[in-house]
Amino acid sequence: MSDTINVAILGASGYTGAELLRFLLNHPKVRIAALTADRKAGTTIAEAFPQFVGCDLPRLITIAEVDWAGVDLVFCALPHATTQEVLKAVPARIKIVDLSADFRLSDPAAYEYWYGHAHQALELQKEAVYGITEFAREKVAEARLVANPGCYTTCSQLPVIPLIEAGAIDPDEIVIDAKSGVTGAGRSLKEANLYCEVADGFHAYGVGHHRHMAELEEGFSRAAGRRVLCSFTPHLVPMNRGMLATVYVKLVGGATPQSISEILAQRFTGETFVKVLPFGTAPQTRHVRGSNRAYIGVFADRRPGRAIVMCAIDNLVKGASGQAIQNMNCMMGWPEDLGIETVGVFP
Ligand SMILES: NC(=O)c1ccc[n+]([C@@H]2O[C@H](COP(=O)([O-])OP(=O)(O)OC[C@H]3O[C@@H](n4cnc5c(N)ncnc54)[C@H](OP(=O)(O)O)[C@@H]3O)[C@@H](O)[C@H]2O)c1
Repeated sequence: MSDTINVAILGASGYTGAELLRFLLNHPKVRIAALTADRKAGTTIAEAFPQFVGCDLPRLITIAEVDWAGVDLVFCALPHATTQEVLKAVPARIKIVDLSADFRLSDPAAYEYWYGHAHQALELQKEAVYGITEFAREKVAEARLVANPGCYTTCSQLPVIPLIEAGAIDPDEIVIDAKSGVTGAGRSLKEANLYCEVADGFHAYGVGHHRHMAELEEGFSRAAGRRVLCSFTPHLVPMNRGMLATVYVKLVGGATPQSISEILAQRFTGETFVKVLPFGTAPQTRHVRGSNRAYIGVFADRRPGRAIVMCAIDNLVKGASGQAIQNMNCMMGWPEDLGIETVGVFP
């Protein structure tokens, strides 16, 4: 096991950056070397998030001011398209966990199609390892650059990929209905995220063409060994954090709702963070809030030959910063749960 490392968080004044810091403050093998911000550079992290008042932490600086000589690993919690520019200046010895979408798609043409511009760091994109830790821990352990998956895609792939791999569901018949808390949209000011726009109601967005479809379809296609398309509709619900994916699947090869629940239970036996609930139990976002856990539940559909699979995570933890730390632990050869052992918080 390696000794203590120096870590920089780029985008520390954002939601996922602060969530990284919340966990890393208690990580026994991490020292915080640098925290960056954009508009808030020059201030303190306690000014951005008073939760950190009294913590001995570096001031928020710009990325250009980071002294890379004192950094072993960097978390990038920046808006998409920012990281690929920034990383060109990062020395090759430094390990990277990127929370943005910049390195998640292995196909540059798909990236260009979904994000509307050519990728600016194709060499880095080639070496990036896509890291849902439970599915990729051997590759993550060897990686220099890990593309941390999105929240919707973690929540949707965890319960579905083992079923595709087992040949228990038809990959062409996956329908995902997913809901996110408002922190999923980040902390920067957007009219659509004002209190009056999100409170007391909820709505779908990106209907029929949300960017996370590309990431989902890459994951499902890898598992199926052929090209797979899926239906996916995200919704914004008036809560701060939490994410629930309800996935409708068509059973094949003699599978039953009970047997796919068993497949999932066996696949995740021994996993610290992924828990398959007793058959017919609906996972709730409240029960994983603040933790790196994913709760999965399976139900029979009233229509024969079909089932409903659900997964609940905290979008900021298993959907972002918790999984990023899980990946760092894996890259460093440390126990995967170091610093992120906590169960969900109570109301
Ligand atoms: N929120 C989630 O649930 C979630 C889940 C999975 C993945 N992600 C991904 O994680 C990344 C960060 O998300 P977030 O929700 O933490 O975003 P956020 O709350 O908006 O924070 C963005 C951070 O980046 C900084 N920043 C903004 N523009 C910059 C620029 N041009 N150059 C340098 N720094 C810049 C901001 O600094 P200032 O505060 O000074 O402006 C802030 O520290 C995004 O790519 C997002 O898609 C988010």
